[in-house]
Amino acid sequence: MLEKLRAATQELHEKIEGENTADLIMKHSISVEQYKKLLLQNYVAYKITEDKIEAQLPDYTSDKTENLAKDLAELNVDLSISENYQHDFTINTDAEALGAWYVVEGSSLGGMMISKNIKECEQLSSIEEHHFFNGKRQSVDSWRKFTKDLKKKDFSAEEQTQAIEKAKETFQFFGKVFREI
Ligand code: HEM
Repeated sequence: MLEKLRAATQELHEKIEGENTADLIMKHSISVEQYKKLLLQNYVAYKITEDKIEAQLPDYTSDKTENLAKDLAELNVDLSISENYQHDFTINTDAEALGAWYVVEGSSLGGMMISKNIKECEQLSSIEEHHFFNGKRQSVDSWRKFTKDLKKKDFSAEEQTQAIEKAKETFQFFGKVFREI
């Protein structure tokens, strides 16, 4: 299942990496205003996606949305725009929830790389703590646990299709939010 999710979303991953302002962090040239926007885009995408995963799978836990909200509160950014995206993403089955979970869990691997570079961004030096881009090992541990659990699950042909389609849709939803905000 993991290999199928990876293969089906590889191109979408490359596309989203290209569209993302996170490369300004990699180049150490991001301004506070650009950082606020990047955090808000991520907040909206994670908030909606994680709320819907949790509604389907009550055991789902994550601190991503919460950490983004903390960063944004410290920078006085209003979060209400997320309400506009409430109806742009849906989850209806457990298999779909797992497809979306793959995307949000995997995204912390890129987050680790970004976190290492954020300390070098001079224009962000007044920000004491980065809650979302925290670079904690916990994200990698959590990815390993997710992939281990996924390997143990049996998916019917229909469930496989649901998980793969939802993983693709999750990337597309993130892309839409990144383009529009
Ligand atoms: C500039 C932004 C990004 C960078 C630089 C980046 C970079 C990376 C890197 C380095 C990995 C680890 C590859 C590996 O260790 O095998 C990864 C994996 C992954 N990323 Fe990203 N990423 C970015 C954005 C995103 C976004 C926005 C999403 C989702 C919405 C995402 C979803 C994933 C997923 C699902 C994986 C796991 C792939 C797999 O091993 O199956 N990434 N990313």
